[in-house]
Amino acid sequence: MTIHAPDSGQQWSALAAHFLSVKDKTIAQNFAGDPDRAGKYSLEVASLFLDYSKNRLDDSAREKLFDVARACGIEARRDAMFAGERINVTEGRSVLHTALRDLSSDRIIVDGTDILEPIRAVRQRACAFAERVRSEEWRGYTGKSITDVVNIGIGGSDLGPRMVCAALRAFAHPRLRMHFVANIDGDALVDVLSQVNCQRTLFIIASKTFTTIETLTNARTARIWFLQNGAKESDIAKHFVAVSTNTDAVKAFGIDPANMFGFWDWVGGRYSLWSSIGLSIMMSIGEEKFLQLLSGAHAMDQHFQTAPLEKNMPVILALIGIWYRNFYDAASVAILPYSEHLRRLPAYLQQLDMESNGKSVTMQGERVAHGTAPLIWGEPGTNGQHAFFQLLHQGTQLVPIDFILPMRPTHELAAHHDLLVANCLAQSSALMIGKSVEQARKDIGASMDAAISADQLAMHRSFEGNRPSNTILLEQLDPASLGALIALYEHKVFVQGVIWNINSFDQWGVELGKTVATNISEAMHFSAQTGEFDSSTRQLLARYKSRHT
Ligand code: F6P
Repeated sequence: MTIHAPDSGQQWSALAAHFLSVKDKTIAQNFAGDPDRAGKYSLEVASLFLDYSKNRLDDSAREKLFDVARACGIEARRDAMFAGERINVTEGRSVLHTALRDLSSDRIIVDGTDILEPIRAVRQRACAFAERVRSEEWRGYTGKSITDVVNIGIGGSDLGPRMVCAALRAFAHPRLRMHFVANIDGDALVDVLSQVNCQRTLFIIASKTFTTIETLTNARTARIWFLQNGAKESDIAKHFVAVSTNTDAVKAFGIDPANMFGFWDWVGGRYSLWSSIGLSIMMSIGEEKFLQLLSGAHAMDQHFQTAPLEKNMPVILALIGIWYRNFYDAASVAILPYSEHLRRLPAYLQQLDMESNGKSVTMQGERVAHGTAPLIWGEPGTNGQHAFFQLLHQGTQLVPIDFILPMRPTHELAAHHDLLVANCLAQSSALMIGKSVEQARKDIGASMDAAISADQLAMHRSFEGNRPSNTILLEQLDPASLGALIALYEHKVFVQGVIWNINSFDQWGVELGKTVATNISEAMHFSAQTGEFDSSTRQLLARYKSRHT
C-alpha cells in the first residue's frame, strides 16, 4: 500500500492553494452564502448528531479535504486495521480494539485463529465475576459484601474506566463505590484508603504490562495496608484481582491467576476500556449496560467502515482538525462537555489523542514536515465559561472547540438542563458571531468614565467572532451513546494519524522519562553516581536528599 506524506501529494497542494484564497473568509460569510448550510454541514450517526457548520470551511475546502483523505489511503488503512494487519509497525502488532466490541457471532481470523471466541470467553468470565460482586455472592474475608472497589492503574488502565464510571454514574450500582488510584503520589492512595474498610474493599490491579512502577508500588502498599488491618495472606484472594496480559508477573506479585482477567497485546493501553480493563465499569453498571456501551461503539465502527468519506463522522471530524492544525496553525483543541458527568472526558481524550498522535517521525522513519497532534484540553461547561472562555472569545490564539451536549438529562431538574443547553448554544453562537466595534460603540452610548473614551471602551467590548466549533449532541448520556462518542474520537485520531503518516499506536516518548526516573530513584536511595545527571538535576536532587537524611 502506498502511504503518502500529506504535504507531498497534489491533493494537499490543491488544498494549500485553496487555503490561501479563503483563509480570511469568515464563518458568517459561509452562512450568508448558503441558507441550507446548517443542514448540509450536519449528520447523525448512532444517537450522535454532529453540527459542524460553524467552521471556517467552505464547500470547496471540504471537497479538497476529502480528496486528501482519499489520496492518503484512509479506506485501505482502515480496512487493514479492522482486518488485523500489523499496522503498529514499530511494535509489530495488530490493532484490534474494535474486535472487543463486535458482539456478532462472526469470526475475525488473525494469524490463522479466530479472536472473537476468546474475547467472548474472557468477557463472559469478567462480567460473571462483576455480577458476583454486585449481587453480594462474592464476599470479603469476614463474610461481608463488597461496598468499595479500588481500581489501581495508570494511563489507559485508569483514564478509560475512570471516565466511563463517572459518565455513567446515573446507571451505577447503588451499593458499590468506585475509586481510582493512579498517581504514585501517596496522597492518591492514602485519600482512598482513609475512606474504605478493608473487609469490604476489592482491589483491581489493572496493568497491561504489570511492570508499571506507579501501579505496582500502589498495589504493594495497598496489600501491606490490607494485611496491617487484620487480614491474613490467605485472605488476599478475596480482595485482590488483576487485569493484565502478563500472567507471570501477576503470579509473581502474589495474585492467583484464577483471579486474573486477561487481554491481548493487540489492545493498546489507551484503547483498552472495552477489554477486561473495563472490569470496574462492569461492576459499576453491570453486564447488560456494559454490552450496550460496546454496542454503541460497534455502531460507530460499522459506520466508520461503511459510510462514504463525505458522510463519515470520524473522517469529517479528523479533516476539520487537519484544516485548523496544518493550515491555520491552531496549536490546541478544546473539548468542552456540557455535562458534569463527562468531566473526565477531556483528560481521557488527552491520552487518546496526544499519546497516539504526539509524534514527529513518519512511518518511514523520517522527521515530519508538518504539525501533528494539537494539545487537547478542556473542562465541563458551564464552569469554563467563568474561567478560560475569556481567552476563547478575545484571546490572540485560534482554539477550535468541540461542544458536547446531552439532549435529555439523567436527572429530574429540567430547569437546570434548559439553562445548561441555553448556555452551550449561546457560547458556540457568540464565538462565531462576535460583536463588531460599531455595535459595541452603540451599546455603550456615552462613556461614564473620564479615564477611557467610549471609542476605546468599544474596542475592549468588541469580539472578533469567527471562532470555530463543532457541536456534538447525544440523545442522552447513556452507555450506547457514550460508546459511540468514544469510538468516534478513536477513529478521528486514527484518520489524522494516517494523514500525518505517523504510527498512532506506539508511545516511545514515555519510555525515556521512565528510564531517567529509575536512575534518579536509584541515585536517591543507593548514593549511586550522580555525575551522569545535568547540574540542575544534581542540585535539585541534593536539596531533596538534604531534607531526608
Ligand atoms: O504511560 C505509558 C503507558 O504505557 C500508557 O500507554 C499505558 O496506558 C500506561 O503506561 C499504563 O500501562 P500498563 O497498563 O502496562 O500499566
